[in-house]
Amino acid sequence: MTTTTSPTRTLLSDGEAIEDLVRAEEGLISRRIYADPEILRLERERIFTKAWFFLGHESEIPEPGDLVTRVAGLDPVVLIRDDDGVVHAFLNSCRHRGMRVCRTDRENVSFLRCPYHGWAYRNDGSLMTAFGESHYGEGELEKEELGLIPVAQLDSYQGLIFATWDPEAPSLDEYLGNMKYYLDIIVGRTGGVEIVGTPQIWDVETSWKFATDNFTDNFHVFSAHHSLVELGMLPNNPDFASHGHMIVAEEGHILHLTAGAPTEEYELLGLPQDLRDKMPEHLSPEQVEMARKTAYSAGTVWPNFHWLQLMSSGTMGQPDVPFLNFRLEIPLSPTRTRMYSWLAVDKDASEEFRKATYETYVRTFGPAGIFDQDDMENWEDCTRASVGPAAQRYPLHHKMGIGRPVDTSWPGPGTAYEGAYGEMTHRSWYAAWRTFMTRTGNGDGSAAR
Ligand code: FES
Ligand code: FE
Repeated sequence: MTTTTSPTRTLLSDGEAIEDLVRAEEGLISRRIYADPEILRLERERIFTKAWFFLGHESEIPEPGDLVTRVAGLDPVVLIRDDDGVVHAFLNSCRHRGMRVCRTDRENVSFLRCPYHGWAYRNDGSLMTAFGESHYGEGELEKEELGLIPVAQLDSYQGLIFATWDPEAPSLDEYLGNMKYYLDIIVGRTGGVEIVGTPQIWDVETSWKFATDNFTDNFHVFSAHHSLVELGMLPNNPDFASHGHMIVAEEGHILHLTAGAPTEEYELLGLPQDLRDKMPEHLSPEQVEMARKTAYSAGTVWPNFHWLQLMSSGTMGQPDVPFLNFRLEIPLSPTRTRMYSWLAVDKDASEEFRKATYETYVRTFGPAGIFDQDDMENWEDCTRASVGPAAQRYPLHHKMGIGRPVDTSWPGPGTAYEGAYGEMTHRSWYAAWRTFMTRTGNGDGSAAR
């Protein structure tokens, strides 16, 4: 096994070492990792079949037979609740010729019939019938062995369902590690959240890593989203999102907890009073205190699942409203990425709050959201301007806060740094990327040297 501390190096086909591309401790990241097809080929094997991936939330499939189609790593899956209420995730591909067995985004089924030759699978994945069974001879159709292919492991935390294709991967509980403490604050704060409607899904001409990189990046907001400042939808203060903490949890998971204006509205994630009142039932006093100091938060469960807990005005001149957004990026090619965006709301939220949080979310995030449009423009141009041969000679700069001391007084788990403008979390994400990419030797499969 090659690791970042090993004297061996993991070589690509031209002899360049992955360890030289991602010098996370120095804050230097080569542009090669964003657009090179060889890098994506290695990511397919070493990240997208090894890590845990977010598929959806339990509230999206509440009833027996409910399903949604999603992507686990890079493979299409059906996330389905069977007649007994058990949740499964199966490769969305028929065992006969590989046709997608489900071609809708969501539905309720007792079985799935493949459109090609008509094989039918029960909602627990087992093969029920094959068309023309009488034409198969003895031993030609082993139905009990031809069920839909399940993911290697499937589990959930706070209603968030994750899967991995690696049977040897650590359990989800172990993988999330101390990030669970922060997921409790964001997702478990009032006893659980549920998804509103369906996710928005759209494609962006960017490397998936530029989009991922953005999610704990607070200091782009004043510049990239300056039109919102001009419209009075964000504070007119370049340091407005700089107060709080950035935290590096285990396994490359990262987050920030950021203070808003020093008034009561910006405490406790900006939630309405009826929801604030529920927090002490579900969080420790220490977690409530952290939430009290937090108006904005973003976090990444490594590699590509994010939350955004934001307060913004969805309408000029109106007060800020909080919303909770879940995000995912799936690479389609080195420079094209599929985005998923969900709105979540506390299960016990009032109708009034549901309406306000929905309106604020759709006006600010998703493909038509004013924030996301600014972000997409940046990610696409970061990609375009980084693929040329001259650009590739110059690494990107991720040094902010590289010498910042750890805040040893931080009461929560993980390594915390004071201040919410910094690249401590970015560097940790890239270090985790390097760990996954160098685990199994050179790019051609030979031992690292
Ligand atoms: Fe599914 Fe033939 S591909 S039945
Ligand atoms: Fe942004």
